[in-house]
Amino acid sequence: MLFNRRRKLWINSPSNSNPLAFYFNKMLKFLRLTPSRIKDFLLIISLSISIYLVFFHPHTPLPLAVSAPPRSLTRRHHLLFSIASSSNSFPRRSSYIRLWYTPRDTRAVVFLDQPLSTPAGPNLPPVVVSGDTRLFPYTFKSGLRSAIRVARVVKEAVDRNETGIRWFVFGDDDTVFVVDNLVKVLSKYDHHKWYYVGSSSESYEQNVKYSFDMAFGGGGFAISYSLGKVLARVLDSCLMRYGHLYGSDSRIWACLVELGVGLTHEPGFHQVDVRGNVFGMLTAHPLSPLLSLHHLDAMEPIFPNMDKTRALEHFFKAVTADSSRILQQTVCYENFNSLTVSVAWGYAIQVYEGNQLLPDLLSLPKTFSSWKRGTRVEANFMFNTREYPRNACERPLVFYLESVVSDNNVVWSNYTRHSDGKCRRSDAIKNLKEIRVVSQKLELDIEQMMAPRRQCCEISASHDELMVIDVRKCGADELISMNV
Ligand SMILES: *[C@@H]1O[C@H](CO)[C@@H](O)[C@H](O)[C@H]1NC(C)=O
Ligand SMILES: *[C@@H]1O[C@H](CO)[C@@H](O)[C@H](O)[C@H]1NC(C)=O
Repeated sequence: MLFNRRRKLWINSPSNSNPLAFYFNKMLKFLRLTPSRIKDFLLIISLSISIYLVFFHPHTPLPLAVSAPPRSLTRRHHLLFSIASSSNSFPRRSSYIRLWYTPRDTRAVVFLDQPLSTPAGPNLPPVVVSGDTRLFPYTFKSGLRSAIRVARVVKEAVDRNETGIRWFVFGDDDTVFVVDNLVKVLSKYDHHKWYYVGSSSESYEQNVKYSFDMAFGGGGFAISYSLGKVLARVLDSCLMRYGHLYGSDSRIWACLVELGVGLTHEPGFHQVDVRGNVFGMLTAHPLSPLLSLHHLDAMEPIFPNMDKTRALEHFFKAVTADSSRILQQTVCYENFNSLTVSVAWGYAIQVYEGNQLLPDLLSLPKTFSSWKRGTRVEANFMFNTREYPRNACERPLVFYLESVVSDNNVVWSNYTRHSDGKCRRSDAIKNLKEIRVVSQKLELDIEQMMAPRRQCCEISASHDELMVIDVRKCGADELISMNV
């Protein structure tokens, strides 16, 4: 009815100078409208429009439909890992890959410069030989041409056309990933959109040299499926323009920049542009799940009295028991004896005599040295550091992970005291040999990852040789501090 009348009015289109006023007058006459009937009329019109919008107009977003469309959960098999390696380094470093790769539920491919002379051992990903790169320019003095081959791993991985992929993940053969954490963290982002997710270097100087906005390749980075598809199409043309750059990661970054894409920073990726003892880095991890560790060859074994690979295997026992919690730092206080205990879950616990304020414990004890060697190099880091005393007796007591067992989401981890020689310690801790930590398996949902909060802990039992610590969610207004 209403639509019919309107149509009629349109048909009688006059050539009046003010057509709107003309229609309105004409309509009033036609309908013989009084003010109250006008009100009714407008009400009916607005109601009809609403009904039309709600039921017949598919493109109008309803308030309920504003949130993202429901998506199925991202799982391990949605990630394809591409590992840049070489026939020379692969046999040596395959033990690193075995730490995080499982043939049953991880999808990965290793890219080599030439075929292996002896077959790779068991429990390793399939190996392929990269394509020819002789046509691409490389002019960086004293750099390695292999940077082109490694950059093209991105294209070659995408061009395999493997099905059901949401994320392409890239790393080196001396990178270990925490796959379940990567799955969780990437599920925050919509793989249908263009995402380039990674992290910069720990070294300020390295970021100055390469870019603060680049994902450093060895630390690992992820490219969403839809971005990967586009990047694979255009990468070769970018490689022709960037022959003057040093690394593969710079080449990928340059091409992504040309596509208009920026880096989404995830602090759990670790390029590890430091050398030596990384204890300080591992005991003050950001409040974000651990995703990767790189430069494993340049670091000392992360546990004492073990070789490098054995130490990482030991670490991965805790990763397997509770990957979300690995390295997460919680701090608790013992008022009576004035002790401060800093737990880097699954790795090490430090016991300080006296009240250490939490903000101070979040800076990294400088147990490592800079990536660039030499005495006169600038060494600035992208995080706050504090001196680690040379004198072991001025350091906190350190307890390293001994064992971890989990049962029905309750995880017990045991830490034993690392000898500090003949230091004099207070009565409260001089006989302390072992710390046991009990925690719930940490299940982070997307909201908790978007707005993370550090957990709390408390010393639930303490006698001469043993301390027991409970890690739990903090109370609503609970502060992580000593009650003084
Ligand atoms: C992947 O798909 C593209 C386009 O359909 C095709 O050109 C290419 O040969 C395919 N690659 C493989 C390894 O099947
Ligand atoms: C912790 O270590 C003690 C002694 O070494 C042992 O008795 C206990 O079973 C261990 N607990 C766990 C959870 O490994």
